[in-house]
Amino acid sequence: MNEIQIPRRNNLDAFWMPYSDNKYFKSTPRLLARAEGMSYFTQDGQEVLDGTAGLWCCNAGHGRREIVEAIQKQAAVMDFAPTFQLGHPIAFEAAARVAEMTPEGMDRVFFVNSGSEAADTALKIALAYHKARGESQRVRLVGRERGYHGVGFGGMSVGGIGGNRKQFGAQLPYVDHLPHTHLPAKNAFSRDQPEHGADLAEVLENLVQLHGDTIAAVIVEPLAGSTGVLVPPKGYLEKLRQLCTRHGILLIFDEVITGFGRIGANFGAERLGVTPDIMTMAKGLTNAAVPMGAVATSNLVYETIVDGVPAGIELFHGYTYSGHPLASAAAIATLDLHRAEDLPGRSRAMEGYFGDAAHAMRDAPGVIDVRNFGLVAGIELEPRVGKPGARAMEIFRTCFDKGVLTRVTGDIVALSPPLIVERPHVDRLFGTLAEAIHAVPA
Ligand SMILES: Cc1ncc(COP(=O)(O)O)c(C=O)c1O
Repeated sequence: MNEIQIPRRNNLDAFWMPYSDNKYFKSTPRLLARAEGMSYFTQDGQEVLDGTAGLWCCNAGHGRREIVEAIQKQAAVMDFAPTFQLGHPIAFEAAARVAEMTPEGMDRVFFVNSGSEAADTALKIALAYHKARGESQRVRLVGRERGYHGVGFGGMSVGGIGGNRKQFGAQLPYVDHLPHTHLPAKNAFSRDQPEHGADLAEVLENLVQLHGDTIAAVIVEPLAGSTGVLVPPKGYLEKLRQLCTRHGILLIFDEVITGFGRIGANFGAERLGVTPDIMTMAKGLTNAAVPMGAVATSNLVYETIVDGVPAGIELFHGYTYSGHPLASAAAIATLDLHRAEDLPGRSRAMEGYFGDAAHAMRDAPGVIDVRNFGLVAGIELEPRVGKPGARAMEIFRTCFDKGVLTRVTGDIVALSPPLIVERPHVDRLFGTLAEAIHAVPA
C-alpha cells in the first residue's frame, strides 16, 4: 500500500466541508485514511469500527475486492461515454440488475449520481407523468415533516427539516407536508414498527379536500433515517398507498437509505409490503464506491411518458454522468455481491440481536427513546437544557476516540452498520456507546 501522506495543518483550509462545523473540525481534525471490512483506520493507524456504513451506504462493508476490481477494469476499458442519444452496454446491464431487485412492475430505471438528484428526478418524473396524461393541473408535491430528500431545491422543499431551508429563502412553490409520525408519548421504546400513528396518513385526505385534483405526488421515506430513525407505524404506509391510489396521486418512496438490504429485504417496499409508483435509491447501489443514484418507476409511469411522445426526446432531463461506466461497473459488482452473500437475508438474520442490543440502551442515563428496524437503530437522549444536540455531539466524538463511528442528528444517535456486521461488532458498538453515554455529562 502507498505511504499515506499526512496533510499539513494548512491543507485543511481549502476544502469547504459539507454539513460540517468547519471551524471545529479543522481545529480538531479526525481524518480517516483507509477502510476495510467493518472498519476505518485513521491516519495514525487507529481502527474505528464503522457503526454507520459510512453514511448509510457501504452496506457490503469496505474495500470489497470484487467492486474494486470491477471499477479498475472498467476504468481501463472505457472511462466515460455519454448516455444522451448514445449508450454503452454496462449502463443497460446495471439498470437490468436494479430492475431485478425492485418490486414487480417497477422495471424502468433512470440513473443519477446521488440521492438528492434521485429525489429531484422522481419529482420531475411525477410532474411529467401527469402532464402526459393530460392532467397538467397536478403540480402540487406533498412531502412530510422530518422527511429528508437531499439538498436540491426539489428535495429541500418537500423535505421537512427547517434547518435545511432557513438559509436559502425561496422554496419550490405548491408544496405541502404531511405530519411526521413520531409520537413518543405513545410509541417510545417500540420494537420494530410502532403501534400508533397509522391514522396520520389520513391528513392526506384533508390536503385533497383543500387542493382538489392538483396533487401530483406524495414523497416519503419508508423509514426516515436522517431525522433520527422514525419507523413507520403499523398500517401507515398501507393507508398512504390506498389514499394515493384513490385520488390519482403518485406515491414516491425515497429508498436512499432503506434500499439494498438495510431493513432486511432488497427495498423497504418489499419488507413493508407496500409498492409505490416511483422509488429513489443511491448509497448502497454501488456500495458508495462510485457515486450513483437511480429512480425506478412503474412500467405505467414510463410508458405514459415515453409512449406519450410520437418521436424525439421524451423526458427533458438527465445528467452528463447518468449511467457512468465506472458507477455502472460498481453497481453490477455490488449487486452481484448482494445476491452471492444474500446481504438482505444476512441483515434480517442479525436484526433481532441488533435490536436487543439497541433496546438494552434504555437503561443508560438520559435515554428517552430507542427505536429500531432492520439494521437501523436510533437512541434518543434528553437534550442539555438550552443546548440541543450538544450532548449527542460530544457522545459522537467520545465514541470516535474510543474507536467506534456513530452518527448523530440532534440528540439522537443513529447506528446502521454494514450488513456484514457480526455479533462481536454489535456488542462493541453498543458497549462503546453505553460507555460514552455514561462518560459524557448530561
Ligand atoms: C432518504 C434520503 N434521500 C436523499 C438523500 C440525499 O442523498 P445524497 O446525499 O446522496 O444527495 C439522503 C441522504 O442521506 C437520504 O437519506
